[in-house]
Amino acid sequence: MNESFKENFDDFEVTPWKVEGSVDYARLIKKFGTQEITNEILEKIESFTGELHPLLKHKFFFSHRDLDWILNKYDNNEKFYLYTGRGPSGMVHLGHLMPWFLTKHLQDKFDSNLLFQITDDEKFLFGNQTLDEIKKNVYENILDIIAIGFKKSKTKIIINSRHIKHLYSTSLEIAKRITFSTAKSVFGFTNSTNIGMIGFPPLQAVPCFLPSIIEGKPTPVLIPAAIDQDPYWRLTRDIAEKIGFYKPAQIHSKFLPSLQTIGKMSSSSPETAIFTTDETKIVEEKISNAFTGGQPTISLQKKLGGNPSVCSVFSYLKYLFDTPAESNERELKCRSGNLLCGECKHDLSDDSTAFISMFQKRREKAKDIVSDFMYSEES
Ligand code: TRP
Repeated sequence: MNESFKENFDDFEVTPWKVEGSVDYARLIKKFGTQEITNEILEKIESFTGELHPLLKHKFFFSHRDLDWILNKYDNNEKFYLYTGRGPSGMVHLGHLMPWFLTKHLQDKFDSNLLFQITDDEKFLFGNQTLDEIKKNVYENILDIIAIGFKKSKTKIIINSRHIKHLYSTSLEIAKRITFSTAKSVFGFTNSTNIGMIGFPPLQAVPCFLPSIIEGKPTPVLIPAAIDQDPYWRLTRDIAEKIGFYKPAQIHSKFLPSLQTIGKMSSSSPETAIFTTDETKIVEEKISNAFTGGQPTISLQKKLGGNPSVCSVFSYLKYLFDTPAESNERELKCRSGNLLCGECKHDLSDDSTAFISMFQKRREKAKDIVSDFMYSEES
């Protein structure tokens, strides 16, 4: 099969608005033109942070742009800002938390300032909810962001519609340098796309440059995000130097799989995801119905072993709760038929319910400190 033939037969699609099918991450790196995170880069990170974060060790973060560059800058005493974000389309699930976990780790280890953008405008323009509905999501999502444990003194949340006056002039500089033809080819806009959507991308680019404006000198920015957001930064990087800024560096994650079938967790089908606001009983129910890599019967499982590489329960345990050593042992036991799906589901259920109930307490506490995290209190 030649390359071009294969190209047409990809059975997955990744855009900022849609992730479908079983993603081949090695192919995605090629398609998007990003770089693989090499062991050399991991060693460099480790030299600054001590032990590697499990999400790096497990290669859940697998791709980057200019990560080596930003680490060299740091090595030369040029500190970087972190920038990440949330499109407030609904409640937050475990998949959304993954880039935030790494962001918190990086903030702690590199003592970085963090800008956290909430694109309420994007979710209004691209979805079917009213502005009022989205406003409620924004508030709920902020509780999740604060519950992650970011440093209050070093974290600022930007809500696009509320903080627009701090974003607008920079967004103009960006917008003026991006043609419709480029935006069309990067995002797939068509003649029937509403013009709000077409005009939105510069706003997601602004926080890449705000740190330089705040600090009054070119300031490197690292964006931890799921890889579907890369098209935004591709555009941003094209124009950055033209307006006197560094290109933003990025570190990209995979997607946490759906609990039900192949694909990523999705807010639009709640049974496929564990939400931070789910009650214990619901979490347990979702996990007991989860898709596994197990055999249809216990005796076949004992005879043939299971397949962790397609198992959602195994992935959740690996990326969220097991230590690397525990995960390896789980994999060996499963493959050799010495572990039944019920046991893994039980472990995941225990770990998830404990995590969610701890997280819900932190969400409650967050209610008192929301305003401390806002970019600016002026409206
Ligand atoms: N567009 C993102 C979403 O729909 C939200 C977002 C804005 C974001 N800025 C970001 C995500 C920076 C990651 C990094 O979820």
